[in-house]
Amino acid sequence: MDNLSIINSFPKDFIFGTATSSYQIEGSNYGNCGRSHWDSFAKKPNKTYRSQDGGVACAHYLKWNEDLDLVKNCGFSAYRFSFSWPRVLPEGKGLINNEGLSFYDKLLDGMLERELKPFGTLYHWDLPINLAEKGGWVNRDTPKYFADYTDLVMKNFGDRLYSIATINEPWCASWLSYYCGEHAPGLKDLSAAAKSMHFILLAHGKALEVIRSHNHKNAGIVLNKAYVTTKDDNEQNNIAAELYNSIHNDWFDSAIFNGEYPKNVLDLFKEHIPENYQKDLEAISQSIDWIGINYYTRAIVEHDKKIKDINLVLTKGPLKKTDMGWEIFPDGLSKIIQSMIKKYSLNIPIHITENGMANKDEIAKETINDHERIGFYYSHINEVKKLLDKKIPIKSYFAWSLLDNFEWAFGYSKRFGLVHVDFETQIRTPKKSWYEFQSYLLK
Ligand code: FCB
Repeated sequence: MDNLSIINSFPKDFIFGTATSSYQIEGSNYGNCGRSHWDSFAKKPNKTYRSQDGGVACAHYLKWNEDLDLVKNCGFSAYRFSFSWPRVLPEGKGLINNEGLSFYDKLLDGMLERELKPFGTLYHWDLPINLAEKGGWVNRDTPKYFADYTDLVMKNFGDRLYSIATINEPWCASWLSYYCGEHAPGLKDLSAAAKSMHFILLAHGKALEVIRSHNHKNAGIVLNKAYVTTKDDNEQNNIAAELYNSIHNDWFDSAIFNGEYPKNVLDLFKEHIPENYQKDLEAISQSIDWIGINYYTRAIVEHDKKIKDINLVLTKGPLKKTDMGWEIFPDGLSKIIQSMIKKYSLNIPIHITENGMANKDEIAKETINDHERIGFYYSHINEVKKLLDKKIPIKSYFAWSLLDNFEWAFGYSKRFGLVHVDFETQIRTPKKSWYEFQSYLLK
């Protein structure tokens, strides 16, 4: 099937939405926004595609009204967005940027006027530079400042948020950024990675306490999940895959749901894990109201003794790939959700907070025929339907992304949007996938 008619077989109260994040669309040059570590990372040689940054991005700061219309007119009932920490607190703490507060004020009212449910996220990676320079997520003070920032957001906007997520993809904000060096701050340091993997979760725990103090009852965290498998089934590969799975998935799940870290990763981190980390696990494992899952692909792991510390690499699989080179593997979505439920006896609502593909979209005359993207959405939404049929409590599905945007290290070279953005003129053009969602969501 290559259409999205399946949407019409979903329960009436199921939420379809679309997602973005602050740094990827707003434009950090506008509105007296403070600098984040992504602004400085992009300035270093060879960190992002053509040294591109999010200074202008989609100029959403100026065009938010038009963008909310694009969400609404497509038929979505929810919008997932993130607050930019440096936009409201340019130095990470202390001085407040009132222009930043008034931007989110207008944005939230704009959502409510259009009857869009606001799904807010507190941290989608734009760490204020001032805090980054003091070690960022390697510093035990950063979670404390994150709690103060959370308080500011909740005080001003808490009552307008349908839901609030603390951190988007803590694995990316820690391991990928401090061990793999692919995201800001670009470190390749096991000790820093171990600390960041703990402090990013402590930030989640501390923020949750603040959210509760504001009486908000729909709080969660968003985890990016990879379905982990091995290249060939042999003992060394299996151990490698297990370690990768523990770093990517279980470190976060097990801390949040069981208040403990997996043993194989603790063994790897040894003396690098922050002192007294056990004490923090209580805050980290407080109950949450829902869990968000971002799903894109699977990870195929192979033992490789040449790789320092972890002795493993990710290898390319045989399946059809998106423009990111990520295999299209819809089955993985069901597999990871079912395995999480089983392993952690989960019984809280689940939101699919991100799913989508980068594609080299064909632009023919005025139309953008991204039929590959429609096929991708169909196959993954079909998995969600299968899970619902098994009575798994999935409450929403968010397409990543509303707009083509700043795709981190890939700059503007990868297009994930339902809506095409011309980065010279900032003209938005809905793609065929946008019309496809619209034709079933507005039915
Ligand atoms: C996720 C991020 C999101 C976007 C997509 C493609 O890991 O949350 O910002 O980059 O990947």
